[in-house]
Amino acid sequence: MRIVSVVGARPQFVKLAPIARAMLGRAEHLVVHTGQHYDQAMSEVFFRDLGIPAPDLNLGVGSGSHGQQTGAMLAGLESAFERFRPDWVLAYGDTNSTLAAALAAVKLHLPVAHLEAGLRSFNRRMPEEHNRVLTDHAADLCLAPSEVALAHLRREGLGSRSVLIGDVMTDVLYRVRDQQHLTPVALPLGVEPKHYYLATIHRPDNTDSAERLRAIVDGLAHLDHPVLLAVHPRLAARAAEHGLDLNVGAVRPIAPLGYPELVNAAQHSLGVVTDSGGLQKEAFLLRVACTTIRPETEWTETVELGWNTLVDRDLSALGEAVRRPTPPATDAQPYGDGHAAERVVTTLLNATVLDANAPSATVLNGPGSH
Ligand code: UD1
Repeated sequence: MRIVSVVGARPQFVKLAPIARAMLGRAEHLVVHTGQHYDQAMSEVFFRDLGIPAPDLNLGVGSGSHGQQTGAMLAGLESAFERFRPDWVLAYGDTNSTLAAALAAVKLHLPVAHLEAGLRSFNRRMPEEHNRVLTDHAADLCLAPSEVALAHLRREGLGSRSVLIGDVMTDVLYRVRDQQHLTPVALPLGVEPKHYYLATIHRPDNTDSAERLRAIVDGLAHLDHPVLLAVHPRLAARAAEHGLDLNVGAVRPIAPLGYPELVNAAQHSLGVVTDSGGLQKEAFLLRVACTTIRPETEWTETVELGWNTLVDRDLSALGEAVRRPTPPATDAQPYGDGHAAERVVTTLLNATVLDANAPSATVLNGPGSH
């Protein structure tokens, strides 16, 4: 069986790592990189550090408005799929690359599976919310990372083509955590393990408005320990446009981190402050308290279990949220057991797409079917 994975942005490379390993010897696996992320620190280092084979094709689409970027990917992916004729297209997460992969595949009547299906923020301002809803409804197979995600899919009438898989980010996190003594993050002078916070901010809602970004940076600047702020290119660009110095108060801006360095930096921190979906969950899996600068989260289990707190409009609450007492210990595993990628491959090998035009086209065979 030939499976084509489509990736393009940083979190997708992380998810690809365990999938590429699990595919070895079981399926012919090709990787198409849309080129959504292209800086070395945003792309190549992930392939290198996580041992992912180089993409079979890079469309080199790069940055642009949503329409330009997604449209260019759509055209490029259509040609790629015509060339590779995959038995399955595997789309990851919720970026513009995800949506383009799903659309290009269904228009060519190619079966498409969505990894990390069923997440919902119910926030229609987020481009990711549209990407994931549209991709789920286009997909023949929805691979859910959690019970909560599966429940969303069922509620939207997608239960018959959905499978609970667990989260492949748990797979990669556990593997890297167990090796990460190999790649300790270089802490800036004067910053000691367990005496700093790790922060990332990159979402348009937090960076595009000068006033909002200033309030966030100000909140970080007044925290009671140094804050390692790993600077995404969007943050760097917006801060420069707004004339905002990131090197203020407690904040120590650093370059974007590779995955092993990020895991290491999170694990040895006092806490994480972020608007990233992935990092909220990584913090939880490492049992490091997280404060999320967003009005809501898709990873609601992290909040319910006490390891994640949301701070949104009232940024004056940031300091108190970050300094809150250590959350209660838990051995809950809402995101699987670290073997999700193997289940993905098994599910793809066993699922039968009867007729791409039939209303319920996928037959799920074997354990894990819902
Ligand atoms: C994208 C995803 C988001 C994900 C994030 C992870 C969408 C809609 N958003 O957001 O879900 O959380 O990736 O990082 O798909 N840039 C560079 N170099 C790069 C890539 C981007 O300088 O290698 C700059 C460009 O100025 C670009 C901006 O970052 O315009 C934003 O990049 P883009 O890919 O549009 O979205 P992200 O904010 O990275």
